[in-house]
Amino acid sequence: MQAGEKVLTATQLGMTYGQRQALRGLSFTLGAGRILGFLGPNGAGKTTAIRILTTIIEPTTGSFSVAGIDSSDPHGIRQRIGVLPESLGFPGRNTALEYLTYFGEHYGRSRTESRDRALSLLSEVGLGGRHSSLIGSYSRGMRQRLGIARTLLGDPQVVFLDEPTLGLDPRGQQELVQIIQRIARERGAGVVFCSHQLAEVESVCDDVIILNEGQVVADGRVEDVTARKGAVRFSVVVDPPYVDEAVRVLQSERFTVSRDPQVDGRIEVELGTEDPDQTLEIRRELLRSLLAAGVDIVAFTNEASRLEEVFLSLTEGVAS
Ligand SMILES: Nc1ncnc2c1ncn2[C@@H]1O[C@H](COP(=O)(O)OP(=O)(O)OP(=O)(O)O)[C@@H](O)[C@H]1O
Ligand SMILES: [Mg+2]
Repeated sequence: MQAGEKVLTATQLGMTYGQRQALRGLSFTLGAGRILGFLGPNGAGKTTAIRILTTIIEPTTGSFSVAGIDSSDPHGIRQRIGVLPESLGFPGRNTALEYLTYFGEHYGRSRTESRDRALSLLSEVGLGGRHSSLIGSYSRGMRQRLGIARTLLGDPQVVFLDEPTLGLDPRGQQELVQIIQRIARERGAGVVFCSHQLAEVESVCDDVIILNEGQVVADGRVEDVTARKGAVRFSVVVDPPYVDEAVRVLQSERFTVSRDPQVDGRIEVELGTEDPDQTLEIRRELLRSLLAAGVDIVAFTNEASRLEEVFLSLTEGVAS
């Protein structure tokens, strides 16, 4: 697989359950080695989209292809994907190694090959030391890792993960996110990843689709979607004696400036722009003018979790 090569193309996917339109006109492409986040309030259609793309249900309208295989060949697609569904049951009385070896044999491997493969995948997801424990004794985080190891059995070109970090503690979430990143970066698979954790999506995903009542309300590269809201925001912390000078300099530029009453020396800076490409130049200009005025800069950050702001404004008024 070449980086950037399209591993998934969806065209105008729609799904109607009885009278309810759960998904309307979903179109996107996913490149090899990229991570795509599906976001949306409860009931937005994320799981429905994943169920269609993993050939569990047939869409009412539209089509898609995975690794060049058309949705009219669901069997062919299943050979090339790995899926971690929203909830996955495990046999508590088996060990992780038995479980994965058993599934590995479905891929036409001998028992020995399948066992070796299971061992290597279990160590890849950080369960190497616990492969002989009963799954019934596993924590939720360990089960999710085991589920991810299962998705990798067939060396998939696209991996679908429906809320993989749900219910995990912060460290567990972070470790799982690192595993997901490795699936994309080292294996070169495309990853489709549903989550309600916006900061997590913002940090891990290359691309994002925000769904609302079955409709796409925003899509594109994460940095473009977050920039689209218009306001470019930064915060600067300067050595407190320089605050007045820093505010004077910034106000004489085009920025809207406010002091943070909680933190001495911290200044919030905002500038309305519609063009995400201008962000870098604006940041340089801001720093140049402060340095030219001799202001002692302690820290400089882009405002965090812009995705949350975009998400809340685009999905406003929707009961969850
Ligand atoms: N099998 C089904 N039969 C009827 N309606 C369904 C079915 N599955 C989903 N729906 C409806 O389709 C809509 C989309 O549901 P879906 O499960 O795709 O949402 P979601 O974005 O995954 O939500 P969540 O964040 O809660 O997981 C909802 O209104 C849901 O009630
Ligand atoms: Mg869901």
